[in-house]
Amino acid sequence: MKRFLVTMMAVAFFGGLVSAAFAEAPAETVYETKKGSVTFNHAAHGEKFSCDKCHEGVPAKIEVDKAAAHGATCKGCHKAEGGPTKCNDCHKK
Ligand code: HEC
Ligand code: HEC
Ligand code: HEC
Repeated sequence: MKRFLVTMMAVAFFGGLVSAAFAEAPAETVYETKKGSVTFNHAAHGEKFSCDKCHEGVPAKIEVDKAAAHGATCKGCHKAEGGPTKCNDCHKK
């Protein structure tokens, strides 16, 4: 019972950390590219998917370069989950 309580407290504490981290993360990030800007709505994605779909361990900054964006970090999931996959769905002039 004691161990159960300690576990529950740890879960609650970690859960608190996670929602604090989510609240502190920018609601959206704009990637400026030669092909126009790509807006990643972190708030909307985070409501739809659990953090560990994109983050390993404690959620933190993810570096997004061209290869990552066109691969597993963005487009790969869009292919699997029905998100936008056409160039101009992401790139806006
Ligand atoms: C899922 C969204 C998404 C889709 C779909 C997508 N891109 Fe991108 N693309 C990005 C993001 C995000 C970056 C920027 C990464 C960064 O900041 O380095 C990027 C970077 C680029 C760059 C690099 C530009 C620069 O300034 O270095 C080019 C060129 C590009 N994309 C072309 C395309 C083309 C062509 C298509 C269609 C075949 C496409 N992209 C589809 C999200 C997308
Ligand atoms: C669809 C993928 C995805 C999901 C789901 C997601 N994130 Fe993120 N998160 C990202 C990306 C990409 C970045 C980097 C954005 C940037 O460069 O500003 C990021 C950045 C962050 C950062 C760092 C912000 C900074 O600039 O220091 C935190 C903290 C964070 N996310 C927390 C969370 C939490 C907590 C959840 C779950 C409630 C979550 N994220 C869900 C993709 C995601
Ligand atoms: C875990 C899966 C997943 C990942 C990872 C993901 N997305 Fe998405 N994204 C989606 C889905 C699903 C939608 C469609 C949401 C809808 O229509 O309600 C979407 C929608 C979008 C849209 C169009 C809707 C809007 O917000 O205007 C853009 C732009 C976008 N994502 C960019 C990105 C970028 C950039 C990344 C990488 C940094 C990324 N996404 C990572 C699943 C994902």
